[in-house]
Amino acid sequence: MQKILVTGANGQLGRALQRQFCEKYELVLCDLPELDITNFKACRDAVRTYGPDIVINAAAYTNVERAEDEPDAAYAVNAIGAHNLALVCREANVKLIHISTDYVFDGARGTPYSEYDAPNPLSVYGKSKLLGEQLIRDTGGWYFIVRTAWLYGDGHNFVRTMLRLAGERPEIAVVADQYGTPTYTVDLAALLEQIMHTEYYGIYHATNAGNCTWYEFACKIFEYADKKVAVRPITTDEYPTKAKRPRYSVLDNHMLRLRGFDIMRPWEEALKDYIANDCK
Ligand SMILES: NC(=O)c1ccc[n+]([C@@H]2O[C@H](COP(=O)([O-])OP(=O)(O)OC[C@H]3O[C@@H](n4cnc5c(N)ncnc54)[C@H](OP(=O)(O)O)[C@@H]3O)[C@@H](O)[C@H]2O)c1
Repeated sequence: MQKILVTGANGQLGRALQRQFCEKYELVLCDLPELDITNFKACRDAVRTYGPDIVINAAAYTNVERAEDEPDAAYAVNAIGAHNLALVCREANVKLIHISTDYVFDGARGTPYSEYDAPNPLSVYGKSKLLGEQLIRDTGGWYFIVRTAWLYGDGHNFVRTMLRLAGERPEIAVVADQYGTPTYTVDLAALLEQIMHTEYYGIYHATNAGNCTWYEFACKIFEYADKKVAVRPITTDEYPTKAKRPRYSVLDNHMLRLRGFDIMRPWEEALKDYIANDCK
């Protein structure tokens, strides 16, 4: 049985990996405080002690707004943490699967981004994630960098926030001029399982199929949850935030297609499934 070490195992993706992988693989589940990926020695000790075949880095500093105020904390996890894992995986000849983000792009072009398009992050979070990617690439081990977007699963996410607000407010204003692709952690975990058994290393874009705005996403959430809520479309300018977000960060899953992997189902189908079966 293959042994997989998961960092950030208590996060949204980490929990999906736990659920889907627990019967097929020997899992070593790590999160703060026992494994802080910013600590090189702790990363090396974990890999030496457990001897995994694969490391999946699901740990990250994911608070996009807070990252603007504490950039060093974001860079420590998203760049140095990723680098630490890449270094110790290379040393031990272990495959690394690292998760990155659509926020490495500026979204100015207005068409889907391929893996070979030039990134240009707008936020501290996006910049720190991009540096993490670059450090992993520079390390030169056996890595998959998988960029995903708008994740929801077991944890804090947009779907749960919308459903909570529906019980608290008569009307909800949602940004209607930022496009992306909501992606279900369960579908992403299944995709990671496909790629991790191959030697097709490199960068992948991996999201559910299709795209929408946050406003359209919210409307579908309420439709599938059978909730009557007034949703008002607003512009990004009407909802000022510290972190600048890309207007159009849709990811073309080009490399998955070219390599012959199964493409993920449409985001609406995945969302319906999540709300019916998995959204507590
Ligand atoms: N969420 C999204 O919409 C989204 C979109 C695109 C890409 N991604 C990427 O997808 C991946 C998974 O995201 P997610 O939504 O599952 O994130 P998440 O729910 O925020 O989980 C991240 C986990 O990492 C842990 N962590 C933070 N700092 C750590 C450290 N120094 N050492 C070890 N663990 C640490 C967190 O612990 P604490 O909770 O205690 O901090 C948390 O358990 C990340 O790489 C993220 O950048 C996410």
